[in-house]
Amino acid sequence: MKKTIAILPGDGIGPEIMSQTLRILKKIENKFDHQFQLVEGYIGGSAFEKYNSHFPEITKVICAKSDAILFGSVGGPLEKAEFPKWKDCEKNSILALRKTFHFSSNIRPAKVFAELKEICPLKDSIIGNGIDIVIVRELLGDIYFGEHLTYIENQLRKAKDICEYDEKQISIVAHQAFRMARKRNNKVTSVDKANVLDTSKLWRSIVSEVGRDYPDVTLEHMLVDNCAMQFFIQPTQFDVILTSNLFGDILSDAAAAFPGSLGLMPSASFNEQGFALYEPSGGSAPHLAGKNIANPIAQILSLSLLFKHSFELFEEADIIEKAVQKTLQAGYRTKDICIKENEGISTTQMTDIILSHI
Ligand code: IPM
Ligand code: MG
Repeated sequence: MKKTIAILPGDGIGPEIMSQTLRILKKIENKFDHQFQLVEGYIGGSAFEKYNSHFPEITKVICAKSDAILFGSVGGPLEKAEFPKWKDCEKNSILALRKTFHFSSNIRPAKVFAELKEICPLKDSIIGNGIDIVIVRELLGDIYFGEHLTYIENQLRKAKDICEYDEKQISIVAHQAFRMARKRNNKVTSVDKANVLDTSKLWRSIVSEVGRDYPDVTLEHMLVDNCAMQFFIQPTQFDVILTSNLFGDILSDAAAAFPGSLGLMPSASFNEQGFALYEPSGGSAPHLAGKNIANPIAQILSLSLLFKHSFELFEEADIIEKAVQKTLQAGYRTKDICIKENEGISTTQMTDIILSHI
C-alpha cells in the first residue's frame, strides 16, 4: 500500500515520542512491504520559532495533501504562557487544525489493561471484569469555538466565553457514537447538563432523535456531574460515552485513570469524509520533555488507530497493539506507569521492547 502521512511532532514530549513511533512505523512498512511517504510539518511553539505562526500555511498544505495526520502534542510550560511563543499556542495550532479540516468527532478509548491493573486507582471490586470505554467527543462546537472576550465594564474586569451548538453538529457526532456502539456492546450514554444548559437540552433532543435510527442500541442520558461520580463507583456500566467538547475534554482526562496514565491514551479525530488526525490524548508535558522518560505508548497506539481507521490495515494495527500488550505483560514500565518510585525504563528502551515484538 502507498500512502502519504503528515507527521506533526509539535512541542514538549511530542518530538521524542513521535520519533520512537516512526521506528515502529518503519518496521511495519518493511514487514508488510508498504510505502509510506512521511512529510514532516511544524506546528505549535516549534512552528512559531521558525515561521512566526503556530500553524503556518505550509503545514496546512502538508496536511491537505496527506491521507492521514499523525500529531504529537503542542503547548509550553504554564509559567511561560504569556511569552509570544506560547501565547494562545493550543488555540492557534491544534484547535485551528481541527477546525480547518472539520474534525468534528473525536474518539478516545479508555480501558484497564489487565497487565496494569495495579496502577488503576480503583478497587478490584469496582474494576470487575474490566473497564472498557470509548468516549466520543464533539470537537468543533461548545464553549471552545464560541466568542471569547475579555473586557472592562463598570470598572470591573470581565470575561465571557460563549457556548453554542447547532443541531447538525450534534447529529454528526451522535451518529458516530451510535455506529461505534454497534461495533462494540450496543450502548450509548449521552452526557450533558440538561438540567441547566440550553445547549444540553438541544443536545439531549437531537441525540434522542438520532437514537431512533439505531433501535438495536440502548441509549441512556446522564448528567455530567453524575457521570464523573459514576466513573469511580460503577465504571463498568459504560460502553460508548457521547458528549460535548468541554465535557469530553474533562471526562477523557478523568478516564485516563482507568489505564492509569495519560501516556496510554490514544485518540482519533474524524471529519465527515473520514479524513482523520491521530494524537495522544495527553498534552506536551513540558516537565518531561528532553529527558527520554515519556511513555511512547499513547503515540504508538495512535499510529495503530491510524492504520485501522484510515488505511484499513487491521493486521498491522493488531500487531502493534499486541506488541504493546506483550511488553506490558513482560513487566516493562516507563516512569508514569511504574509503581516503584524513581524507577522505569526510558522512552527509547520501551520502544526497543515493543519493536522486538513486531
Ligand atoms: C485535548 C487537549 C486540547 C483540548 C488542548 C491542548 C487545547 O486538552 O486534546 O484534550 O482541550 O482539546
Ligand atoms: Mg484535554
